[in-house]
Amino acid sequence: MNYFEIKKNFLEFFEKRGHKIIPSSSLIPQNDPSVLLTTAGMQQFKEYFLRKKIPEQDFGTQRVTSCQKCFRTTDIEEVGDERHLTFFEMLGNFSFGPVKSDDPSDFSTGGYFKRASIYWAFEFLTQHMDLKIDYVTYFGGDSEIPEDLESFNILKELNLPIKSSGREDNFWGPTGNEGPCGPTVEFYINGLEVWNLVFNEYYKYPDGSLKKLEFPGVDTGMGYERLLMVLEKKENVFETSAFDTIYKILKPFIPQEYINFKRDQRIILDHLRAIVFLISDGVLPSNILRGYVLRRILRRLFLKLKQLNVPKKSYNILIQKTCEFYSKSWPEVENYKKVIEVFEEELDKFNLILERGIRLFNKNIDDFKNKEKRARKAFDLFSTYGFPLELTKELLKSNDILWEKEDEDEFLKLFEEHKKISKKLFDDEVE
Ligand code: GLY
Repeated sequence: MNYFEIKKNFLEFFEKRGHKIIPSSSLIPQNDPSVLLTTAGMQQFKEYFLRKKIPEQDFGTQRVTSCQKCFRTTDIEEVGDERHLTFFEMLGNFSFGPVKSDDPSDFSTGGYFKRASIYWAFEFLTQHMDLKIDYVTYFGGDSEIPEDLESFNILKELNLPIKSSGREDNFWGPTGNEGPCGPTVEFYINGLEVWNLVFNEYYKYPDGSLKKLEFPGVDTGMGYERLLMVLEKKENVFETSAFDTIYKILKPFIPQEYINFKRDQRIILDHLRAIVFLISDGVLPSNILRGYVLRRILRRLFLKLKQLNVPKKSYNILIQKTCEFYSKSWPEVENYKKVIEVFEEELDKFNLILERGIRLFNKNIDDFKNKEKRARKAFDLFSTYGFPLELTKELLKSNDILWEKEDEDEFLKLFEEHKKISKKLFDDEVE
């Protein structure tokens, strides 16, 4: 089984257990204005958890399953390591209350809760995927919310090592500034958190207060690329079948002297895929909101392509092949011409900024190595030449120069002063 087959296997596992397979929603959230981009599978179902929409009417069942396109801006800086991605796919199964039966052998269509969710996750991972679970974690309680003893007792029956943790690690949600949330059970394999089972028992308001939900629900999320990583026994997500086809297309374009620059190559792979999906869902580069997310990703992609001397003639091929590969699973990314059009337009705009910024950085590299001058220099590049800080940080990283907290603070101080003087917004400045 590979990238195309494993997700099908997951969805069919839950379909057999009374779930309706629901297509992924767009990366642009339709009914959640508090978030820029879709970050989780549950987002399109928020109103079903609250019964503002009735799942039985819309789906004919209280159980649904999906493979959701997700994008997490919080992980941008981490991309390039073994497992972080901006765009990723998330497998999930969901139950909207009220609970009718929590028996894992009940394959009907009523709401379920912790027992059925935990048993099915265990069965899918160990029997269907033949994986060995290292350990599981559950919510250990804090001053506001009690320990999740129900999950603990169910987990004990499975004879797995159990660990507990607090709000930081074993409580999930809401997406945006309010919504359903609750304690979690998480399955770890090869040291990786693979599957997160969220038991939506609470509603969190924007002021941070919690209310117990009338009907508890289930929201699970399993990062697909991570699942592939453990299944295919790979050291990192970029070597899995989700990426290896595109990796093989990229490699011949990487000059020999950069062949070991793995982090940069991974950023190219991640960002290439991310722009394909963002643009295909209708995001266009701009200086605000999700358009700015796309612009950041595009600019970092340009920088990496340039840093590794990837020939310009390969750009369109890379985009076309990326679209072709993923369109077998996601028909909406078929239109590579549209992606190329947006890419080229943005590249033209940015080339001037980029070339000037890199030249100035290299010319002033001694100043960047100097702790006293670093933040000021980075700020000059930004304010005078429009060269974004995140790209300066990339150049620093590539030159083994640390950007420390003091540098960040100093940069922000200069930025605030500058804002006051120029009375211009940050987003205008980036242009
Ligand atoms: N909604 C569960 C997760 O994103 O992990």
